[in-house]
Parts: sequence; C-alpha cells; structure tokens
Amino acid sequence: MNRAEDRLNFRADAAKCLRCGLCVKVCPGRIIRSGHDGVPYVPEKLERFCLGCQHCMAVCPAEAVSVHGINPSELPETLPVAERSPEKLLNLMQTRRSCRFYKHENIPAEKMKKLMEMTAWVPTGCNSRGLHFCFADDKNVMDAIRTKVSANLQKIVKFIPPFNSFVAGYKKKILAGDDIVFWNAPHMVVVCVRKNAPCRKQDPFIALSYFELYANALGLGTLWCGIADGAIRLMPSVRKMLKIPAGYKTGYVMLFGEPEVKFPRATMQEPYGISSAGI
Ligand SMILES: Cc1cc2nc3c(=O)[nH]c(=O)nc-3n(C[C@H](O)[C@H](O)[C@H](O)COP(=O)(O)O)c2cc1C
Repeated sequence: MNRAEDRLNFRADAAKCLRCGLCVKVCPGRIIRSGHDGVPYVPEKLERFCLGCQHCMAVCPAEAVSVHGINPSELPETLPVAERSPEKLLNLMQTRRSCRFYKHENIPAEKMKKLMEMTAWVPTGCNSRGLHFCFADDKNVMDAIRTKVSANLQKIVKFIPPFNSFVAGYKKKILAGDDIVFWNAPHMVVVCVRKNAPCRKQDPFIALSYFELYANALGLGTLWCGIADGAIRLMPSVRKMLKIPAGYKTGYVMLFGEPEVKFPRATMQEPYGISSAGI
C-alpha cells in the first residue's frame, strides 16, 4: 500500500490528546489545525497537501494521533539517546570495507527478510516513496544474470582492441569467463526509481547507504557496484530478468553476501577537506 496516496484518515483521540500542539507544529505540510477544544484535525480540503510523513503520529507523546488507520501503540519506540551507542555505529562505519570475496551461498532467509523489510524506512525527497528494490535474492538467479552479462560482455570485447595493458588484461579476463562485474557475489539489490520522482538522482544512493550499513550490521559484506550498474543499463535483457516495474529506471546497484574475507581492523583515513564558515 502506498500510504502517501492513500486517504489520510487523520484521527485524534480526544480522551488521550494532551492539547500540546506538537502535531500541529511538526507537520511539514502545515495542514493540521487546532480545533475549538484544542484537539487537532485536518480540514478535508487540505488533506491533499499531506506528504504522508506520519510525523504527527510519531511525535504525539500520548499515542492519541493516528493516520491511515495505524495503531500508534504498535509502532517501535525511539530508543533513549543514552541507549543508542553512537560508538558502535561509528565503529561499523569505520570498519565496513568493500567486499569482493563472497561465499557462493545464499544468505540465511531471515537476514534477507530483515534487509527487505528495512528498505521501507529509507527516506525519499518530498516523501515521494518512488523507489523499487529488485533483489537477486537467490544465488541461482544471480548466476543466471552473471552468465547473461558475461556472454554479452564477451560479444562486446571481441571488437575492442587491447590498446593498453589495462584493457588487454580485462579483455583476457572477460574472454576467460571471469566475473569481473559481480565478483561472484551470491546476491545483489538494484534500486530502481520512479522516472518522475523529484529526487530521482539522490534517492537510490540514500537507499543503498542505509542498506549497506544495515547489511554490515548483520555481518554481511557489500559492494557498491558501478560496473554492474553500467552493465545493467547497457543490457535490456538483464533489466528484463530483474523485473523492473513499468515507469521505473535503475538507480544504482549493490552486491552483497556472506563475506569470505574478514577485516579485523579499520583503515587509517586522511580527513576530507573540512571548513568552518564561522569567524
Ligand atoms: C559509487 C561507488 C561505485 C563503486 N563501484 C565499484 C565497482 O564497480 N567495482 C568495485 O570493485 N568497487 C567499486 N566501488 C568500491 C570502491 O572502489 C571502494 O569504496 C573504495 O575502494 C574504498 O574501499 P572501501 O569501500 O573498503 O573503503 C564503488 C564505490 C562507490 C562508492
């Protein structure tokens, strides 16, 4: 269900409502009004300006606000800051490495389910929610895609002269059937984006950043894969295998799977340029 296009069905339970006005304050569409009794409501004519962000429901300290028929008491609660462990999150960011060596096996079904479910919380510009995630969630599917891409590449490289040792090396690998595109990964996710989404450039990258961190937190390895992205864009037959829905185009690609090589420590990184606009 696309809640952004669904009827808003804004409900405030007068018995629970604290009349604090927080839902009115946080609404980015400014469509919530305070009633004569202090209980908030949304005038029907303003409903169409709802972004579908659900901030009104998430901010309510009394679980009094509901939208789309959702019961707020069933939603996960925000952890207190003291329990969030920014150190662990930073450690994950520092020790995450690009993974190019995978076990050639499916990841456990439970992890795949968690990864798929997590995607629902990826933010999108204007809350367009115009994303679609095409998963190669079975290594046999991934192998079929690999074989197709490899066969297509072999046809293409035959016509490319080995004009330097780099190109010659890759040409040799492709003709030998090496998987230079997918690194023998058992899985990939191709994030697709609605062609008219307002932030169609940014949304897929945000999605994969979320995906990468969560996958690594689950002990998986990941690789942002520009070469796979290029191959998929070039090959309509592969896009067909991925079952990209009509009206969507590919955004970017990430490989993932159980890592074969583990990195016991972080790298040392030079800081990027950082400047302060202050005095
Ligand atoms: C947008 C993007 C595209 C990438 N494409 C590829 C790719 O096609 N093949 C590959 O082996 N690595 C690819 N990488 C991985 C980078 O080479 C890698 O992030 C870099 O070497 C630093 O290593 P680290 O990720 O372990 O810190 C890509 C990374 C990013 C962010």
